Amino acid sequence: MSLKTETTLVEKIDELKKVRDAVIVAHNYQAGEIQDIADFVGDSLAMARYGAQTIASTILVCGVHFMAESAALLSPNKKILVPDLEAGCSLAECITKDQLVEWKKEFTNAVVVAYVNTSAAVKAESDICCTSSNALKVVESLPKDKEILFIPDMYLGQWLRTKTDRKIHLWNGSCHTHLRIRPEPIFDLKKEHPQAEFLMHPECGCLTACMKIADRILSTDGILKRAKESNAKEFIIATETGILHRLKKENPLKTFYPAAQEAACEFMKKNTLEKVLWSLEDLVYEVKVPEEIALKARIALERMMQIQ
Ligand code: 13P
Repeated sequence: MSLKTETTLVEKIDELKKVRDAVIVAHNYQAGEIQDIADFVGDSLAMARYGAQTIASTILVCGVHFMAESAALLSPNKKILVPDLEAGCSLAECITKDQLVEWKKEFTNAVVVAYVNTSAAVKAESDICCTSSNALKVVESLPKDKEILFIPDMYLGQWLRTKTDRKIHLWNGSCHTHLRIRPEPIFDLKKEHPQAEFLMHPECGCLTACMKIADRILSTDGILKRAKESNAKEFIIATETGILHRLKKENPLKTFYPAAQEAACEFMKKNTLEKVLWSLEDLVYEVKVPEEIALKARIALERMMQIQ
């Protein structure tokens, strides 16, 4: 795309945002050009918080489908749009509502903690949601006599098990992108850059192998905050590669090494500037959650939102 076309696209998007009374909320894994035109960029929790408090009547969610559903649940009177309905989440696909209903039957004294990377229908069968930035706080907020069914990410669940003595049962789900992050290249990067700080997302498939050598295990916003605050000049970053855009932009004098170049989520990257424009032009694609599901799913999400 030429610079001229790009400028025109961005200008058109800016104009249409005003006409549509819309804000653009983007996840840290979005393509850089989308992050650059967004009104807000953040992790799943920050996106949900921003969406819930914005006064705009339309929210265009640039991320994956469950993020738009969360916005629809928390802002029932706003129009929630996504640029591409096929931007789904492999992790959210790992558990269906029926599978959860069956699993719950095995544990009568358990509460269900659902990572936000789940469908609204699954959230409706859950007691409380969490994100990677508040998972530990959420788990520790639950009554001590209850066991926990943690869905769907087994790596985040495994990490939680190392942080708390709560009894946590894990669902066998994972993110296909974070599974591409393998331990061996990280060991090599650490040898090549011994001064580099190693920051890792808890969804990483190499969690068990790398947990002991990680300097911090953090959500995407946690990684961004740490990179800014740290005195280190070099970082090894184990998560989806879209985060490198903000890391480099916000820390021009620091160097970032992706743990795996191939950890690029093709669903996150389905959104493009053109699709953002079309979305605002035609007010597509609207994401709505059926009211009978929303009534229950909202409770689980709002319980999480109350945890500071
Ligand atoms: P964060 O909440 O850390 O941004 O993670 C969201 C996500 O979908 C990771 O795959």
